[in-house]
Amino acid sequence: AYVVTEPCINCKYTNCASVCPVDAFREGPNFLVISPDDCIDCDACVSECPVEAIFPDDEVPEKWEHYIEWNEKLTEKWDDRVINETVDPMPEADEWADKEKTVDDIVQ
Ligand code: F3S
Repeated sequence: AYVVTEPCINCKYTNCASVCPVDAFREGPNFLVISPDDCIDCDACVSECPVEAIFPDDEVPEKWEHYIEWNEKLTEKWDDRVINETVDPMPEADEWADKEKTVDDIVQ
């Protein structure tokens, strides 16, 4: 499955969500995740993300490998919050795009 990682936090551009053919994205307050059970590994979302937050699970950079588990966990938590369209990004998305963030910054 594909995984959303750190650059998405506080940006949430949502370009990824509208191209997913199986509605695998779930939306939290400041982050999206991909349901590992729904993802069909089609690769359509990767090039849509302006901050390059999405990776196949076997190519996630080592420093972000814990996001594999976070996508699983947060999919359970946000399972009824499917997002399948592109909406406005977070108000300060462009400011946050290049900043360091951590999983502690994810609002649940
Ligand atoms: Fe996040 Fe990138 Fe999608 S910032 S919402 S993974 S387009």
